[in-house]
Amino acid sequence: MQKKTRVGVLVSDRGTNLQSIINACRDKSFPVQIAIVISNVSSAYALKRAKVAGIPTAVVDHNKFASRSGFEGAIIQHLKKAKIDLLCLAGFMRVLSPKLVGAFKNKIMNIHPALLPSFPGLHAQRQALEHGVKVSGVTVHFVDEGTDTGPIILQHPVPVMDDDTEEALSKRILKWEHKLYVDAVRLFVDGKLKVEGRRVLHV
Ligand code: GRF
Repeated sequence: MQKKTRVGVLVSDRGTNLQSIINACRDKSFPVQIAIVISNVSSAYALKRAKVAGIPTAVVDHNKFASRSGFEGAIIQHLKKAKIDLLCLAGFMRVLSPKLVGAFKNKIMNIHPALLPSFPGLHAQRQALEHGVKVSGVTVHFVDEGTDTGPIILQHPVPVMDDDTEEALSKRILKWEHKLYVDAVRLFVDGKLKVEGRRVLHV
């Protein structure tokens, strides 16, 4: 039997992407074990989802640290103890410094609700509507030191309708987020991702 890949997930809020990975883990052909879920917000609903699924959780509140280095040091300790092979950011609302990125080089993924490099940062769906694009989408990428700038693993387009609200577009995009994140984790687990500079080859 294939050894299970140990995944850590960082969250800050509702955790629907976490839930989709939890659901995928119920399938025996998806050799992933979520080893730990860490939130920087103690009230995040994502923590409840993890607990219901029997996954160990930790809260590392950034407000309790004088520096980002101290905050990330505490996260790294949890992740090392959980012996993770891959770290997934799923609605984690803090930018990572080189300290955390360097600790898990090319082993940190993030999901973003737009076709990067368009509309990085917060409120990507609102940015897309305000710009007037006809197509937006989803990107899963490896995390580097920038905000949503790392090498792109998978993308999927999602149409923007004339009568879209931010909420309607977000909902349409979210459906694809849940599929694409699991697909990207599967590619990683199967050893099919090769990073060459800015490009991620599917080998
Ligand atoms: C998603 O839209 C994701 O793309 C963005 O933050 C949101 C998190 O949603 N990075 P959820 O907490 O996974 O439901």
